[in-house]
Amino acid sequence: MAKWLKRLLGTEIKANEEKSDLFPNDRQEFHDDPYPFYEKLRASEPFYRTADGAWVISRYRDNKTALDHPALGNSPSRFSTLSPGKADRYVCANLANNIMPFLDGTPHREQRRAVARIFQKEVKSFTGRLTLLADQAVAGLGEEFNVIEEFAHPFAIKMICEILGIHVEPRLRDWSASFFYLFTKIPTATVRDEVDQHLAEFRNWVHECFQTSKPTGVLAGLADLISADELKEETAIDIVILLFADGLENVDSGIGNALFTFSKHPDQWGKLRGDESLVKSAVNEVLRFESPAQYIARTCLEDFEWEGNQFKKDITVILLLASANRDEQAFPDPARFDITRSPNPHLSFGRGKHSCLGSNLVELELAAILTALRKKFSGFELIGEIKWQNRTGHRWMEEARFRAQLTE
Ligand code: HEM
Repeated sequence: MAKWLKRLLGTEIKANEEKSDLFPNDRQEFHDDPYPFYEKLRASEPFYRTADGAWVISRYRDNKTALDHPALGNSPSRFSTLSPGKADRYVCANLANNIMPFLDGTPHREQRRAVARIFQKEVKSFTGRLTLLADQAVAGLGEEFNVIEEFAHPFAIKMICEILGIHVEPRLRDWSASFFYLFTKIPTATVRDEVDQHLAEFRNWVHECFQTSKPTGVLAGLADLISADELKEETAIDIVILLFADGLENVDSGIGNALFTFSKHPDQWGKLRGDESLVKSAVNEVLRFESPAQYIARTCLEDFEWEGNQFKKDITVILLLASANRDEQAFPDPARFDITRSPNPHLSFGRGKHSCLGSNLVELELAAILTALRKKFSGFELIGEIKWQNRTGHRWMEEARFRAQLTE
């Protein structure tokens, strides 16, 4: 029985001969190329039921319906480590219940509106600086480089720290890796304790950042809300943690995945080099083709029926966005990477009430990076194999080395 799938979805899969042939036996095979697995799931079990009752949705149209479904919410189920009832016991539960990805209804709407106003204003004022930082990051590249360590990460961390108004600190990376356990199943009590310790340290550090005499960036906007008694400092701290982690990890891999994809499709790189007006659609296609976010979760708020399937209150529903992005019913020839694809309504940022708050920043960052790269390099070649992080909810690179050819 494919035990790796149990870890994949954070749930247990029935030992069932019929089902086991849906999945690759080898977890490495899945990391290298998850898309054949998604294709089989869409074709044979678009509503997949795991042994502990969770539903896995893989088709585009069903993901779209689920994203707007009034009976699917974001607050953690009572079975989860993050349930509101455990907020006094675990730092992770306490933090989760303070931030918008885990809130529903009015608390979600109000927090999102306040944060979006402050965040988008900063992003807008940052456009020129963003281009400069992307140009500098590309100018510093030699002909061989490790894409995450030497390129994507230094760029992404500088960007998000400046926008937020915090300084770069070595422990940020471990802290944000722990933060992302909020979006997958926390495997053991030991991991949960470590996550709690990191999040407590992260909170203390952000608290100190707020003590600075003249805050800048998003921090300044949030400090104003705290002074006006419109936001509690504890919530503001957790919002900074959310924005930092979201602004770092997915962007690192968004850049890495873009290079990886173009290295496999040199004709598309040639096309982009020949026509700068294709940058925007190339960004969208990279996000569709190799989304850093593979799935997101929802919780059933009540019992309901959907296409003859029974969805019970408090059950987890996994939305396989990366599978939806490759659905042949929604995208003609979905396995083809085509930077001129239009329309391209990919779901990599989700959609609706909880859709990614940083999507415009991501698009600007990727566009600035591709614009700078296309001037300097005529192509990329992957050296050896990519090491993917051992995750399933995200397609994040651990390490990948590239050789790049300079333009004549
Ligand atoms: C390639 C990069 C990124 C990808 C693929 C991505 C993807 C996503 C996805 C799939 C969601 C969940 C949508 C849902 O639940 O319906 C989300 C939510 C969110 N993202 Fe991003 N994201 C990226 C970068 C960023 C950045 C740079 C920021 C900001 C600094 C950001 C901030 C957020 C926030 C605050 C939410 C929660 C929104 C809410 O619950 O209302 N993301 N993102």
